[in-house]
Amino acid sequence: MNTTVTEIANGIYRVSTYVEQADLRFNQYLVDAEEPLIFHCGLLRLFPMVSSAVARVVPLERIRWISFGHVEADECGAMNNWLESSPQARVAVGETGCIVSVADLAMREPRALQDGEVIDLGGKRVRYLYTPHVPHGWDAGLLFEETTRTLLCGDLFTQAGDSVAMTESEIIGPAFETEEMYHATVLTSTTAPTIRKLAEFNPATLGLMHGPAFQGNGKQALLDLADGYEKLFRASIRF
Ligand SMILES: [Fe+2]
Ligand SMILES: [Fe+2]
Repeated sequence: MNTTVTEIANGIYRVSTYVEQADLRFNQYLVDAEEPLIFHCGLLRLFPMVSSAVARVVPLERIRWISFGHVEADECGAMNNWLESSPQARVAVGETGCIVSVADLAMREPRALQDGEVIDLGGKRVRYLYTPHVPHGWDAGLLFEETTRTLLCGDLFTQAGDSVAMTESEIIGPAFETEEMYHATVLTSTTAPTIRKLAEFNPATLGLMHGPAFQGNGKQALLDLADGYEKLFRASIRF
């Protein structure tokens, strides 16, 4: 196993490890700014590899913000390791996740973010978007980095297998093949509308947690993803 680092947009780095047993890539994103931020802490057991890869770009002591989409091991397994290695850092997650889990799990008091709230990182700005149950978890949310129009889209578009670091190829086909394998997304009447709201941000880059970073028409990719989930939801309620 090795962890690679690729700059996928100006000052945004994909830190990626392929885990053969899971046949899945696990990515973290480093947003380099005056106050650097990590999105996804990564699995606890990958922390030594991931943190030393991040340290090649930014000294760990400089990291100020630690964020993730929802409570799961690949999102926040190493949260307290980051807090230990980066003494100035604070966890920032959505209010629901904060109240339900993170205020108890984190070794320092987290910051609770409201839907639409911006953290000005100094040179970069991340906006928290609350997406309950999309793709899963009551506490689910994502970050949109406004200066590069990068949507750090977590488990959306998850694709199994190994992948290149960056792609301009379509990512819908692999996403629905993987959805069929794992059924990881909660299908409700609000799944497609929530994804369509993300499309309004018109992202130029999509930072997948499991897969490549996509560059191109992120808005269309999100609209296509929403259509696909709407179809699956409609099929699921027909009996
Ligand atoms: Fe997840
Ligand atoms: Fe994940």
